[in-house]
Amino acid sequence: MQTRIVSIQQGLGAAVELIKSGEVVVFPTETVYGLGANAFDGNAVRKIFEAKGRPMDNPLIAHIADMSWTERLAVDISDDAKAVMNEFMPGPITVILKRSKDVPDEVTAGLDTVGIRFPRHDVARQFIMACGTPLAAPSANTSTKISPTSAQHVFEDMQGRVPLILEGGACEVGIESTIVDMTADIPTILRPGAITQDMLVKVLGKVRNFDGKIIVAKAPGMKYKHYAPSCEMVVATSEDNAAYEYGRQLALGRNPVILAKNDYIIGLGFNVIRLGERDEDAMRNIYGAMHEAQEKYDYIICQDFGNEGIGASIMNRIDKASGGKRI
Ligand code: TXA
Ligand code: MG
Repeated sequence: MQTRIVSIQQGLGAAVELIKSGEVVVFPTETVYGLGANAFDGNAVRKIFEAKGRPMDNPLIAHIADMSWTERLAVDISDDAKAVMNEFMPGPITVILKRSKDVPDEVTAGLDTVGIRFPRHDVARQFIMACGTPLAAPSANTSTKISPTSAQHVFEDMQGRVPLILEGGACEVGIESTIVDMTADIPTILRPGAITQDMLVKVLGKVRNFDGKIIVAKAPGMKYKHYAPSCEMVVATSEDNAAYEYGRQLALGRNPVILAKNDYIIGLGFNVIRLGERDEDAMRNIYGAMHEAQEKYDYIICQDFGNEGIGASIMNRIDKASGGKRI
């Protein structure tokens, strides 16, 4: 077998044809080059193992080109898993989810889970999209060899074993994706990578790291930050800070608003949404105020309700909305 290195401009048609006829193709990603085959075609996936000389009991990652493809591969996707995917995909991360029964055993090595990755490299995205099917792909090296970060690395190692290598330059990240198992009780990092435990903790609140240690977020408010208002929001720890931040945002050309109870002292001429007299009033009004604020303004400064009683409960919601940001 002759191995050709081609650019996506020259080779996209041929590469897609190979995948559709059940063959393998090497393609670049931002982490390392991958050796891909149609993830729904068990016979095609077997050719990956042959070309690599890899034992079949090691599962492969399914690479997608659109978030909606996840539903073809996985079931019972938790809100935590969705949050991680929304935050870091496309990018250098793989999530382990419960597999759909459509995924052949050749991909999962018979496990009831499947690894899913949405690479951000342009060539990978264009190629996978044009294939119209997820591609199962390990790193494009023969078993036990070093992962390739250029088309030349692949060629030197796999010449004669694969028909086509899509050229994509040097890989920008250079080590394999972070793998996080989202089916574990506590999301667990199975392989560290460019998406770090700190980055994951900010989204998940809690992860088990590669050493088996449980890491808990310093600001658990970061969890589900995507449920926050559509504009930025901060908590002002004093009335002076609120006024100062308001002025700073005006100077930046923004249209800020302050959310505060009636007794909060702020000068005339400020945009303010009043939350009522008591903490109970603020609790009832806080979500409505956030809705109103995100419609009419583009930066929200909220008063601090302290860390006791109902105030603490209100702050829990405000911290989620603001990602724990204080000034
Ligand atoms: O950056 C990457 O992830 C690269 C590029 C090509 O996307 N791919 C890659 O694939 O590194 P590979 O096969 O060399 O490494 C995949 C790792 C293996 O250690 C495998 O055991 C693990 O992912 N893996 C795959 N599916 C799994 C699953 N369902 N449960 C646990 N581990 C899984
Ligand atoms: Mg590998």
